[in-house]
Amino acid sequence: MSNQTSISPDNKNWSPSSWRDKTALQVPNYPDIAALKKAEARLAKFPPLVFAGEARDLKSDLADVALGRAFLLQGGDCAESFAEHGADHIRDFFQVFLQMAVVMTHGASKPVVKVGRVAGQFAKPRSADMETVDGVELPSYRGDIINGIEFNSEQRVPDPQRMVMAYRQSAATLNLLRAFASGGFADLTRVHEWTTSFMKGAKGSPRYEETANKIEDAIAFMRAMGINSENTPTLGTTNFYTSHEALLLGYEEALTRRDSITDDWYATSGHMIWIGDRTRQPDGAHVEYFSGINNPIGLKCGPTLERDDLLTLMDKLNPNDEPGRLTLIARFGADKVQDHLPRLIETVKEAGRTVVWCCDPMHGNTIKASSGYKTRPFDKVLGEVKAFFDVHRQMGTYAGGVHFEMTGDDVTECVGGSSAVTEASLSDRYHTHCDPRLNASQALELAFLVAEEMRPNKS
Ligand code: PEP
Ligand code: CO
Repeated sequence: MSNQTSISPDNKNWSPSSWRDKTALQVPNYPDIAALKKAEARLAKFPPLVFAGEARDLKSDLADVALGRAFLLQGGDCAESFAEHGADHIRDFFQVFLQMAVVMTHGASKPVVKVGRVAGQFAKPRSADMETVDGVELPSYRGDIINGIEFNSEQRVPDPQRMVMAYRQSAATLNLLRAFASGGFADLTRVHEWTTSFMKGAKGSPRYEETANKIEDAIAFMRAMGINSENTPTLGTTNFYTSHEALLLGYEEALTRRDSITDDWYATSGHMIWIGDRTRQPDGAHVEYFSGINNPIGLKCGPTLERDDLLTLMDKLNPNDEPGRLTLIARFGADKVQDHLPRLIETVKEAGRTVVWCCDPMHGNTIKASSGYKTRPFDKVLGEVKAFFDVHRQMGTYAGGVHFEMTGDDVTECVGGSSAVTEASLSDRYHTHCDPRLNASQALELAFLVAEEMRPNKS
């Protein structure tokens, strides 16, 4: 912790509200500004959702990732929703997430830093401001923190009260996750038992049995040596962090607080926050806000990110080149990784910068099925992960993490994988409020395949 430095933004007049002097994209059009101000003022008095010390711990864990000593697993819903807020949904997500982490820990022989896209992942950037259905034009849905998904004029009006509801939902979700992480639910033996029963079920594939058996052997060996969760708390509990795209800056500003120990500013809406691919303009409002908070942060990097902008962004967002501060989340599409990742890696190398390289194989691989549903082929998702690892192997850099849109529910949103979701079955259980997610068995299957890529001796 002592080696963490304070951020000193270019803009010496930085404040939690200085983003308001810059151009902000993706801003909702609130009709009632007085109500907006009132809701923001209310949020500013609410307790922080996370604490600065926790954000510092995550930054130091991510520094280990940047230096090749750990691996990052980040994942969760594309968009959390008010309708899906239930204990089962959270538990099922956490269960499969922990299973994935165990499989990956084994594959990498390294600790896995666990960061959920959860307890705050509500605001969505949209490609169009308006949506037209049967000749009727209404504002696009921008996430439950802003407006409602139902296509009617009442629901689509941005409502500031939704920020308060999102805050309260985040607090309740975080409360349950904290209990799960420390209350025995995350016990290694138990997590592995879920995986073995998954393997025995219809959706398990014999291909992963060898890995599962090796984990089983490792647990049995530890038990024989007298290492168990009673005498070794790290086996019974886990460190779990939260993250989201900090798109709605008024909400983020209201939850930005000065840490009483260091006097530095922190976003307290989540441990890690990231800038989306559509809002990463170097002179824009989002970059301004992120340049002054001290959390670990992510930057989505899509095909249009040019060298000069990346250099400027690294200067602005991580001026002291602090390891763990900046995670570059590459999201190009399986067939475009070779065109873009090597040039960005070169740029980072030339600049002598330290970043975490993370792969989001979801957002560059979204297609529209003939039925009209947005989907993602499992093979393309896997293809992007493989290409990401290949490029890093070729260039001698460290493939540090993966970022998935996933759920613990048995949805039918992405096609393929051994669960055999087909284009025809997409309509069966298509529940996402935004992009298509991997279901529990697709997510775990992907973890096994990623673990194969991560083996230290893989060439
Ligand atoms: C997302 O992560 O849901 C998202 C919108 O991603 P991107 O900014 O990479 O398009
Ligand atoms: Co998404």
